[in-house]
Amino acid sequence: MCGIIGYIGNKNAYPILINGLKRLEYRGYDSAGISIINEDLRVFKKQGKVSDLENYISDKDISGTIGIGHTRWATHGEPNDINAHPHTSEYGHFVIIHNGIIENYSILKSKLIDRGYSFSSETDTEVLANLIEYIYLKGKVTAEVAVRLALTKVVGAYGLVIICRDEPDKLIAARKGSPLVIGIGEDEYFLASDATPIVEYTKSVIYLNNDDVAILKKDELILKTIKNENLVPKVHKLDLDIGAIEKNGFTHFMLKEIFEQPRSIQDTFRGRISPDLKDLRLGGLFDIMPRLLAANRIIIIGCGTSWHAGLVGEYLFEDLARLPVEVEYASEFRYRNPLIGKDDVVIAISQSGETADTLAAIQLAKDAGALVLGICNVVGSSIPRETDGGVYTHAGPEIGVASTKAFTAQVTVLAMMAILIGQKKGVLSEADFEGLLDELNQIPAKMEYLLTFNDKYKEIAELYQKANNFLYLGRGYFFPVALEGALKLKEISYIHAEGYPAAEMKHGPIALIDQNMPVVVIAVKDKSYEKIVSNIQEVKARNGIVIAIVSEGDEIIKGMADHVLEIPHADEKIASLLAVVPLQLLSYHIAVLRGCDVDQPRNLAKSVTVE
Ligand code: G6P
Repeated sequence: MCGIIGYIGNKNAYPILINGLKRLEYRGYDSAGISIINEDLRVFKKQGKVSDLENYISDKDISGTIGIGHTRWATHGEPNDINAHPHTSEYGHFVIIHNGIIENYSILKSKLIDRGYSFSSETDTEVLANLIEYIYLKGKVTAEVAVRLALTKVVGAYGLVIICRDEPDKLIAARKGSPLVIGIGEDEYFLASDATPIVEYTKSVIYLNNDDVAILKKDELILKTIKNENLVPKVHKLDLDIGAIEKNGFTHFMLKEIFEQPRSIQDTFRGRISPDLKDLRLGGLFDIMPRLLAANRIIIIGCGTSWHAGLVGEYLFEDLARLPVEVEYASEFRYRNPLIGKDDVVIAISQSGETADTLAAIQLAKDAGALVLGICNVVGSSIPRETDGGVYTHAGPEIGVASTKAFTAQVTVLAMMAILIGQKKGVLSEADFEGLLDELNQIPAKMEYLLTFNDKYKEIAELYQKANNFLYLGRGYFFPVALEGALKLKEISYIHAEGYPAAEMKHGPIALIDQNMPVVVIAVKDKSYEKIVSNIQEVKARNGIVIAIVSEGDEIIKGMADHVLEIPHADEKIASLLAVVPLQLLSYHIAVLRGCDVDQPRNLAKSVTVE
């Protein structure tokens, strides 16, 4: 949450900052602001989106080659101009942008008030700005020392970039919990919450670790810990293509990402499944495979869509590897007193690799001695660096706030992991193993075909765009798909939607069904097909509207549902990959028809770095 950008070099900073903020806007869009060192330290900030800031700045003097920018997802204080970042310290010595939460801010604030400081915003960030300034003036120390000393007094999470008016040749950055990446150019450095604003300028990056502080001049980088221990920067090469973070002719990132799924799934198993389907290699599990095979149980943790993928994973590991599995919301797991043993394997699923609750749950599992693995999309993010091993999804950057291709890539990884463990444990015969890999291999082509029915999903969206409620039903592997379909609709169209296991409908939601209630039923041919046919009849008997996702050629449900959307046949264990696509597109079209901001739905953020 919150996007951070910084530049120091010889170029005009403003275009780099504003374009960077546009790339980072998925992280929050309540307000935006920039600060540029000109003759003085200038700050411009505005409630609303980056485009509002751009309009506001259009007639201002923004020349300068050093600057910082921020796009906010509000935590402390409502979204308005005053609470927008950057924040300036009371006497104007420091300007600061921050992603994260300073948890002890109220104690620090009252101490600063006792010492004569006053505050104009409601934010925790202004407290930090004033704390740094207080230490700087009182201790007569350098800006760097003041920042480091202030950070030793702070409890919480931060990604920070700071400018000191009296030392206008440098940026100071620090990280704990919230991500920061430094891009290395020629006589220039870039700073950002992720690599997307940097990739068009350089592919050489340094990922800051917790408790790192970086002092950047245009031709010098010093990296140290907050305790003043010098560090040797480790430079990584970005494997990211600029095309991957642009819309490429699609009206929205979400639509582009839905249509990318055949390719992103292919990328997820590329180089892992051998062409003859006899071999499956997951390099990130190689070293820890003996522990994985000896596991007592698997605990899957995640949030939002990643948690839904985890539910599909539960069925997969049970079916294919005969392993007991529990799936937990990271936020609940971390605050319970969960029983975790050394023989447990914890799998953390996260698109961003930065979700605060998931990171905290990982720490809990590590402390208990469990083997901890990650399934993440963003290479170099915190979760892959905190875990003992894992598998990247390789879906490419996902910019639309509502997750689509990350979900199908996560399910693909979970399927590969379950197939591999099943084979190694002797649960799957060679024929089963090859058969499942073959099924997986066929998914991209089947999905490509499914996407050709986009107009049909749009027609249905036109019919039901004004509904106030939707119900989504599924059984077995398709219950998590029902949850995911409902979440997609809620997130982007603001229509209330619930996902339910189809049989549970009788224990509550059936009371809601009337002639105005669209019920989306995932009713593809699997072992509970007859049961779900009965559930459809129960809905129809109460005049509900049934939109059924069915297997190609299904005539039975065609005769009873109001609408059928066919998907190609696939093994039920991986057919969730196909069944979710019509639901993604249905939500997308409904949201567009309702005039909603599909890529940046209200109140949400893509990367939730606060608990
Ligand atoms: C936010 C996003 C969701 C995402 C969830 C978990 O709520 O809007 O799309 O599923 O966070 O994020 P993660 O990066 O851990 O998968």
